[in-house]
Amino acid sequence: MDLQAYLQEADAVERDGSAALESAADTAALEAARIAVLGDRQGRVKALQEALRSISKEDKPAAGKRFNEARTKLESLHESRKAALSRETSGKPREDLSLPGRKAWRGAKHPVTLVIEEIEGIFRELGFTIALGPDAETEWYNFGALNFPPNHPALDAHDTLYLEGGGLLRTHTSPVQVRTLQKFEPPIRVLIPGYAYRRDFFDASHAPAFMQIEGLCIDEGISFVDLKATLNVFAARFFGAAKTRFRPSFFPFTEPSAEMDVQCGICGGSGCAACKGTGWIEILGSGMVHPKVLEAAGVDSERYTGWAFGMGPARMAISRYGIPDIRILYDSDMRFLEQIAGSAGDR
Ligand code: PHE
Repeated sequence: MDLQAYLQEADAVERDGSAALESAADTAALEAARIAVLGDRQGRVKALQEALRSISKEDKPAAGKRFNEARTKLESLHESRKAALSRETSGKPREDLSLPGRKAWRGAKHPVTLVIEEIEGIFRELGFTIALGPDAETEWYNFGALNFPPNHPALDAHDTLYLEGGGLLRTHTSPVQVRTLQKFEPPIRVLIPGYAYRRDFFDASHAPAFMQIEGLCIDEGISFVDLKATLNVFAARFFGAAKTRFRPSFFPFTEPSAEMDVQCGICGGSGCAACKGTGWIEILGSGMVHPKVLEAAGVDSERYTGWAFGMGPARMAISRYGIPDIRILYDSDMRFLEQIAGSAGDR
């Protein structure tokens, strides 16, 4: 082949090859065009390369140069067409990597859980362990063993759901006092967190199912002084340097009985909405465990004495976090939980 004919053939290969590659409508058509133009076996570029052999020695540099041009052009055309087709056919829009990320919600502890854990921590340091009991109780554990006489007016505050086949939802955590006394020998120091149930209407300060924390301390020679001292240490730790006061009260299972108030941390005792203008917040009922309760549980009441208390961690959460209505604690509103979790710094 003379040079003239070779150059013409190179032009034709380049022209036809370009047309075939550029007009390929999808990746399958492009692949067919690639085989026809650039394929190793029957491609036209391959044939053009083989034709170089028939060129005379002096014309070879010029023919070779033209061959390289044509091959390079067709190869790069194939690459760019391939890229264009994959952009078109990938269909869905590509991710926008410049968008800011979405923050993951990691969950948070409920405010009442935070308060319970804090209370447990304080009492654990004072030598208390945790005890638990069933939510479904017998009348004997809930009332009888706790010295509630039948038809006593104290029962009015303890109406609850009675279960088919006997038993009831416990109205307080005090029955676990009796269960603990039956199971363990004094000295006993336990903290008993758990749900209690009462026939109360849901309002700003009551819920029909609510958490309580019971405390029980039994040993030889335990007196009311120990009760006051322990609860004062607790109040100082939980509320800061808060003043407390003990008011005489009545529970069938303690004698004497007292309710403990803590000076309102929001107004400092001058009176505000949170303490209903009194300057004090009532946080627990307490007293010396009645000898009849010890005897009902099989404990020698001549040898052992002790005290108990029951407090409401939801009320304490409310005063701790300035929550205006107890029902918010039961709403499961993530925005509220997130707010408390953020302010508690515990996530
Ligand atoms: N169980 C009592 C209540 O629910 C509280 C309490 C517990 C009082 C222990 C004295 C001792 O009201």
